[in-house]
Amino acid sequence: MKIERESFAALVQKLCLDIRQLEKVCFFEKTDSTNRQAALLAKSGEPEGTLVIADCQTEGRGRLQRRWESPEAKGLYFTLILRPNLSPQQAPLLTLLAGLALLRVLRVLGFENTLLKWPNDIWVNHKKLAGILCELVIQQGGHSSKIDYVLLGIGINVSQSQEDFPEDLQDIATSLFELSGQHYSRIDLLKKILEEIFIQIENFIQKGSSFMIEEWKRLSGFIGKKIIFEDAGKSYEATTLDLDHQGHLQVKLESGIIKSLIAEEVSLKSLSD
Ligand code: BTN
Repeated sequence: MKIERESFAALVQKLCLDIRQLEKVCFFEKTDSTNRQAALLAKSGEPEGTLVIADCQTEGRGRLQRRWESPEAKGLYFTLILRPNLSPQQAPLLTLLAGLALLRVLRVLGFENTLLKWPNDIWVNHKKLAGILCELVIQQGGHSSKIDYVLLGIGINVSQSQEDFPEDLQDIATSLFELSGQHYSRIDLLKKILEEIFIQIENFIQKGSSFMIEEWKRLSGFIGKKIIFEDAGKSYEATTLDLDHQGHLQVKLESGIIKSLIAEEVSLKSLSD
């Protein structure tokens, strides 16, 4: 196991040779959260394309202040610093972009049942396999504001057995190993995911956001589903209708009212088949 970890650290350092968009790699055997470390680095001016990755996180976190279990050498835990030329309102699109990239890689690896759950989850067979935490810092200008940097944090359960997950997650979390019985090389997986993220970024720049959103809707399996969501402490049942150009989710409530959901404000509680 030690040898595997050392070689992972060494291989990670060489990623810049293979992926031209990667500027720098910061590897931690153990850290609190790669998003937190990436925030410090981005603040001190580290460039777009800086990758922060850890073998283990002690305070891995997800959206809505949830924790992300990050046991040593069992998963991929990384954060990519981006400095996109986007308005803060467009930032949610990056979560969708990363989800699309993950989905495409997993489908090619044979995980055909993988689905995207708006805005940031990868699910298979009703269990969560991976999540995305996209955080941003905004630069205030005179009349307008723009993104200073984005921290695109991704966590993927790779080698966990069911009993490796804490009891409260055992029924709702899964890993590539649990799904396939195979141990996937984390470095190969990481390389494929980073390559696909940069392909999707290039597509986004060349073809615009509507192309990416259409792809997300086509592949996600999320549109036309019945959901239960929570907004300001209240629960609602709805059907998912569409994603708008900013990545907000249009839903139809049981009353017939159409509502636009903003990722930061709602929590999805359940999703139909
Ligand atoms: C979610 O499911 O809400 C998002 C989970 C994101 C977890 C990753 S692991 C790497 C990065 N560092 C963190 O602390 N969180 C993200």
